[in-house]
Amino acid sequence: MAGDPRVQEVLERALAEVAGARSTSDLEQVRVRVLGRSGQLTTVLRSLGSIPAAERPKVGEQANRAKVEVEAAIAARLQTLKADEHRLTLQADRPDLSLPGRRVPPGAVHPITRVTEEIIEVFEGLGFSVAEGPEVESDYYNFGALNFPDDHPARDMQDTFHLSADTLLRTHTSPVQIRTMKAQRPPVRVICLGKVYRRDILDATHSPMFHQVEGLAVDRHITMADLKATLQLFAREMFGPTSGVRFRPSFFPFTEPSAEFDVRCFKCGGEGACRFCKSSGWLEIGGSGMVHPNVLRNVGYDPEEVTGWAFGMGIDRITLLKYEIDDIRLFFDNDLRFLQQFAGLPGR
Ligand code: FA5
Repeated sequence: MAGDPRVQEVLERALAEVAGARSTSDLEQVRVRVLGRSGQLTTVLRSLGSIPAAERPKVGEQANRAKVEVEAAIAARLQTLKADEHRLTLQADRPDLSLPGRRVPPGAVHPITRVTEEIIEVFEGLGFSVAEGPEVESDYYNFGALNFPDDHPARDMQDTFHLSADTLLRTHTSPVQIRTMKAQRPPVRVICLGKVYRRDILDATHSPMFHQVEGLAVDRHITMADLKATLQLFAREMFGPTSGVRFRPSFFPFTEPSAEFDVRCFKCGGEGACRFCKSSGWLEIGGSGMVHPNVLRNVGYDPEEVTGWAFGMGIDRITLLKYEIDDIRLFFDNDLRFLQQFAGLPGR
């Protein structure tokens, strides 16, 4: 016997719909339509009471088999659809390897840092160690102990940012001389590098914040000749083997005698026929001199027993010269086009 034609029809339609379901939600709708509480097969099973008693067991068994068959078909189809959907999700989320990558611009050591590190290397090679001091200083360390008399016009040489009557932003690295000598007995050989501040108007060669390096050597029998030889060696290391140094008489309250020092122009070799050195043949670098006896006394040293020399130079100016840059403001603008030129330079 072919069974109840209604059950057969429901079964065939259900199997066709299961096979035709395109998504898991489609399939769920089929399931509800056939097997749900008022689904087609459920309705047949419920209506068993109204068919003749003789046919009831057969039709009942047929409907139950149909239900099992539909459930199995749904389970099998669900597995296939889930696998398809999973594959589609993976495909949609797959990284597109043909997209161009995002460039990470290479970093570069700032030219001032490069030169600072070079200076440290030269002086460490000569047996100097690196000393540090605060940028916020007292009037005493920045001026008083360095033999600047109160209200002396020498203080105006370095126009000062005051934070209070007695506190200021250091105008030079020379206060580190005092701090170092107060902390240790001779012999002393230190350099100190760092930021200094002056009320200077910003232009191509002046900045209100700039960097200095201070050098200090104190021992028995230290002379100005030692100073010149040290600066000479520094100039050669920094600017090349033909470089040299000359002194010009000058005045600083904390040195006696005092001298400004210039290095021979490495562009024209000192010939003077050059725009770089303004036709002088020499480039101004810093100030120097023999440590004033009053300064030695201020830190408890005996000027009859020891002598010393000191120098101070502007790192920004040295960097301008070394890389032939014509405006100090470029150092502080953070313009990547400028800074990137220092990426990948040999040496540092
Ligand atoms: C001094 O500051 C002394 N302390 C140097 C010194 C130390 C002399 C030890 C003797 C013994 P001066 O004011 O000249 O000196 O400054 C030194 C250097 O700082 C200058 O040669 C110059 O290269 C640099 N400099 C000065 N003002 C500026 C500025 N506004 N911007 C950039 N560099 C500057």
